[in-house]
Amino acid sequence: MSTTGLPAHFTETELKLLQALVYQECGMHFDERRAHFLQDRLLRRLKECRLDSFYSYYRLLISQEGQQELSRLLENLTVNETSFFRNKAQLDLFHKYVLEDLLRHKQEQKDYSLRIWSAGCSTGQEPYTLAMLVADGLAYYYMRNPLPFDLPTPKPLVPPPWKVEILASDISYSVLRAGQEGIYTESQMSSVDYSYRLRYFDKLGERYAVKKALKEIVHFDFHNLKTEYLPQRNDVIFCRNVMMYFDEAEQKRLVDKFARCLNTDGYLFVGHAESLLGLTENYSMVHRNSGTAYQKIEVPV
Ligand SMILES: C[S@@+](CC[C@H](N)C(=O)[O-])C[C@H]1O[C@@H](n2cnc3c(N)ncnc32)[C@H](O)[C@@H]1O
Repeated sequence: MSTTGLPAHFTETELKLLQALVYQECGMHFDERRAHFLQDRLLRRLKECRLDSFYSYYRLLISQEGQQELSRLLENLTVNETSFFRNKAQLDLFHKYVLEDLLRHKQEQKDYSLRIWSAGCSTGQEPYTLAMLVADGLAYYYMRNPLPFDLPTPKPLVPPPWKVEILASDISYSVLRAGQEGIYTESQMSSVDYSYRLRYFDKLGERYAVKKALKEIVHFDFHNLKTEYLPQRNDVIFCRNVMMYFDEAEQKRLVDKFARCLNTDGYLFVGHAESLLGLTENYSMVHRNSGTAYQKIEVPV
């Protein structure tokens, strides 16, 4: 016990118990390399809850009244690093190939809905980046394939009859609130070039606020990727830099669930350090100019 009344460290058994609970709740896997981080966050939560032993905290976590504290602990354990236009090669593949392919294909079928899911969206930079790329992609598409009627002025970001929905989900309520607010500092905006800033942001003092029209395309919602009840009928899923915190068994379960959440021929994008190699038979790899994505294939049963 330290002078503050808090334990100076936790035993291996205590940490194993907590690891198992975290894994069961959200799929995050804490191996030895991340044990120090787990200890540090655990100590913080004990201090915050004014509890002085691991077991009193653990009992709280598994109790009915402890649900809110469990969410807080999980929030404290997540890594929320993100940025606008992250992984340019992959976004080029999305913009120039996947989106073109989807728009053409859907128009042929007279299906004018497009649904993209940013799973593990953190503070919103990823879904807003996708919204900007989709708005530009649609405008460019209609420059080359004009609509048979005039659009109202000012031109809407999403020309009718298209309906675009970008779902942004996360397990952390605090990042979801930040995303919903959509206000970013100069340093968070460093990867957004001026033409995007001009068209899609308003200046708000020292910060930048996402314009209303772009915000209307993006919907933030809580979803825990560990559960079975995940958003269905997506044309594209972006789940980047999330799976890397899961172990192989959980990664496999997740990409198979994603296959069920995708429309026929839908696409899945994972992070630069993540791969579907050896995990699943449900996708084929699409690779263009250093960008990689995975397209769902129907596996005969
Ligand atoms: C490193 S950020 C990645 C953000 C963004 N996708 C990107 O690549 O820039 C990982 C996000 O995944 C979320 N996350 C972790 N486990 C999750 C789970 N089980 N369900 C939903 N989101 C989860 C975290 O809260 C965090 O915001």
